[in-house]
Amino acid sequence: MSQKLFLLPGDGIGTEIMAEVEKLIAFLNKNKNTDFFYEKGLVGGSAYDEYGVAISDEDMAKALEADAVIFGAVGGPKWDNVAYDKRPEAGLLRLRKDLGLFANLRPAICYQALADASSLKRELVEGLDILIVRELTGGVYFGEPKEIIELGDNEHGKQQKRAIDTQLYESYEIDRIARVAFDMAIKRNKKLHSADKKNVMISGVLWDEVVREVAKDYQEVEFHHILADNCAMQLVRNPKQFDVIVTDNLFGDILSDAAAMLTGSLGMLPSASLGAIDKKTGKRKALYEPVHGSAPDIAGKNIANPIAMIASFAMALRYSFNMIELADEIENAISGVLDDGLRSGDIMQENCQQVSTSEMGDAIIAKL
Ligand code: IPM
Ligand code: MG
Repeated sequence: MSQKLFLLPGDGIGTEIMAEVEKLIAFLNKNKNTDFFYEKGLVGGSAYDEYGVAISDEDMAKALEADAVIFGAVGGPKWDNVAYDKRPEAGLLRLRKDLGLFANLRPAICYQALADASSLKRELVEGLDILIVRELTGGVYFGEPKEIIELGDNEHGKQQKRAIDTQLYESYEIDRIARVAFDMAIKRNKKLHSADKKNVMISGVLWDEVVREVAKDYQEVEFHHILADNCAMQLVRNPKQFDVIVTDNLFGDILSDAAAMLTGSLGMLPSASLGAIDKKTGKRKALYEPVHGSAPDIAGKNIANPIAMIASFAMALRYSFNMIELADEIENAISGVLDDGLRSGDIMQENCQQVSTSEMGDAIIAKL
């Protein structure tokens, strides 16, 4: 049976790194007995330029129909002045919300060959393997009201405004993300930290209450509560103390960028965004994207690092198609080319060979 993918390269380097995934798909279909079929769509600034919105309804419909969405990156200075609801990021947020992708898995693995590329000392990051489980469809990203209200002029005739974002969580949202995180922890090193700001935020109090309740169903997992600010500090102080970290949408956004950098470069980090498993079909909606952004400054130069994009595709094989061996093969091919000394500019080190985006893609495919 053929598997239906929907590719959304997006903006900036999105197109270049997605081209490497397309090469990989063609190779797998030819040599590894897969039967992937794909269509491509527009998202972000590129969709805005074409349709005046960050994603069209037709492309949304295709994303909803696909077995998996493979996403590049969105955004860039070109769209800085676009209306807030049409900005490039709105396309990604709509995909997450409408597909119900509440669970965002962001693994941060430090490849042996890259331990010296990290901003931290080798001994702190060598062998690092942590997983951030970020809640992705709730919290301050989506809470209502979300608005700017005009308050009228002050005594100097200057217009005053009030901006409101709403941090909002219901117990079921916390419960389901906590279960995803504990399930992951059981398959890994059975240790889980839950990060919130319950010392300041009432939503944090509920977060902690619900996670602790879920923890009772997972007695074999060592559970720790951690305040999100302390978690950020501990990530750069002693990252190897962590195995799985579960946290809300905003803290997850911030902590995962910090965790990413431990591995050498933001260009290395893949992610999977998963919905609930459909009880009838056993399937779940899913989107796979690199954690890095569209990097407009280096777009179009064939120098971007395609590894996070390719590793995101490997996550699709693992989580959407249960092709575990093939996913392992791709991940091994990535560490293989790094061991061979091939580097894109962002992870370039002494005595290594700098390669372009397409050369890196070719080298990974050659390893397969
Ligand atoms: C991420 C990104 C997005 C987010 C942006 C592009 C909306 O930073 O996936 O981490 O904030 O979630
Ligand atoms: Mg982010």
